[in-house]
Amino acid sequence: MRWWDIEPVMELELKLFPEDAWSHGMFWSELAEAHPGGTRHYTVAETADGELAGYAGLMAVGVESDVQTIAVAEGRQGAGLGAALLTDLVTEAARRGCEEVLLEVRADNPRAQRLYERFGFETIGIRPGYYQPADVDALVMRLEHPAPDLKDPRHG
Ligand SMILES: CC(C)(COP(=O)(O)OP(=O)(O)OC[C@H]1O[C@@H](n2cnc3c(N)ncnc32)[C@H](O)[C@@H]1OP(=O)(O)O)[C@@H](O)C(=O)NCCC(=O)NCCS
Repeated sequence: MRWWDIEPVMELELKLFPEDAWSHGMFWSELAEAHPGGTRHYTVAETADGELAGYAGLMAVGVESDVQTIAVAEGRQGAGLGAALLTDLVTEAARRGCEEVLLEVRADNPRAQRLYERFGFETIGIRPGYYQPADVDALVMRLEHPAPDLKDPRHG
């Protein structure tokens, strides 16, 4: 993801996360740390004609890493793009020598949870009411020992 992707990313962001969308400024500050040697790694998925289909970002500090965001355009979900984006983040975490990858996911988002479980993430805690104003809990999930080129086991 580069700065010129922020406009189309924000269009998807507002559609996919209507209650807790990030701002332009948040993406700008994340990308400011996405240089070689920085703490962030951001990627986009595009169609053959260059249309944005999805995006994802990782924060890696020392041996810890966090999935900051992951999203696929509504009309393109269910075709393995989410798995491809997550593979990219996990591979980067492994490349950087991270010992674990953490993430938070809404308790009312079973589809995302299933994706993470397929990759070996396990629920290690709950943050009650983490998502406001809807008052939805967050599950904290962890993948230990991320391996490079981990593939979605159901789709290779
Ligand atoms: C969560 C999210 C990123 C998953 O992305 P995705 O591209 O739909 O993910 P995948 O296609 O890899 O997997 C999703 C489903 O498609 C199925 N699938 C994947 N490839 C497939 C294929 N080639 N043919 C048929 N089905 C397929 C998977 O088995 C999976 O099924 P399941 O949900 O019943 O387990 C996406 O749904 C999304 O952006 N949601 C809104 C934003 C969001 O919730 N983000 C996560 C915040 S924590």
